[in-house]
Amino acid sequence: MSKREKRVALVTGASKGIGAALAEYLHKDGFIVYGTSRNPEPVDPYSQKTPTMLSMDITNPGSVQNAVAQLLNREGRIDLLVNNAGLHVVGVLETMPLEEFERCWRTNCLGALLVSRAVVPRMKEQGQGHIINISSVGGALGLPFQGAYSASKFALEGLSESMRAELRGFGIKVVLIQPGDIRHQDCRSESPAPAEYVKAFSTVMKVAWEDEEKGYPPELLGPLVLKILSKKHPRLRYSFGNVFQRLVPGAKRLLPWNLYEKALRLYYKF
Ligand SMILES: NC(=O)c1ccc[n+]([C@@H]2O[C@H](COP(=O)([O-])OP(=O)(O)OC[C@H]3O[C@@H](n4cnc5c(N)ncnc54)[C@H](OP(=O)(O)O)[C@@H]3O)[C@@H](O)[C@H]2O)c1
Repeated sequence: MSKREKRVALVTGASKGIGAALAEYLHKDGFIVYGTSRNPEPVDPYSQKTPTMLSMDITNPGSVQNAVAQLLNREGRIDLLVNNAGLHVVGVLETMPLEEFERCWRTNCLGALLVSRAVVPRMKEQGQGHIINISSVGGALGLPFQGAYSASKFALEGLSESMRAELRGFGIKVVLIQPGDIRHQDCRSESPAPAEYVKAFSTVMKVAWEDEEKGYPPELLGPLVLKILSKKHPRLRYSFGNVFQRLVPGAKRLLPWNLYEKALRLYYKF
């Protein structure tokens, strides 16, 4: 089999949502796809019909090494890693349990680093590879009552920028995708708001959850990933979602700060 035909992809968090849709899309496009979940459904590991699911907790270095070793033992190479697995933690920064804050950061930022570190040595040997990190509009905007999530995604953005610079000379391209609202986000964890925050918290989160229900279908991410892979020099960052959400990060950079904050308050009605 030629190198071109045997493209091997690893998509973390492929049990549902964006990761499941992307793994399916890449599989149909001809990739050999491995997806991950903390509790994968038992399937025939040699079936060609669906992406192969590996057990992986991205916050656990041993679990990550073990899953990546299985993939490399079977395929011998890895062309694409999509760090998609993520956790959406919602709550008031003043009071949310610190364990929740930390769990969000460990999943959304440290997890991406651990999985990247496990695949980079083989990508370096190959002299090529892509690492695509799924960030969020929340990685460009500090969203009210989503501070833990925004902090973790801002951290992922910084990590990706640095990693891109470090790995460029080895032929490894690191890219961020910033999705807006996408239908389906199960891995939510909501800490209760104290009484004095309840009104603002519920108003803001009502808008946020409604946006998500009306969000973009996750299936549309696949073509963007293929477009990125086809570029000789992909950009650091690609946005994904409806036009409004694609424009907001740019508007934040261009608008006077007070105007931007006013627009954000108007949008979230608080
Ligand atoms: N949906 C949106 O509106 C939206 C918008 C912007 C960005 N994003 C980002 O897109 C990514 C996917 O979001 P989604 O909405 O598709 O989420 P989802 O439907 O809740 O799925 C999350 C996936 O992450 C996996 N996961 C969570 N914690 C994990 C851990 N510690 N180790 C391994 N896997 C773990 C879950 O796998 P198991 O539970 O099976 O282990 C699941 O497959 C996330 O990074 C999210 O922040 C989503």
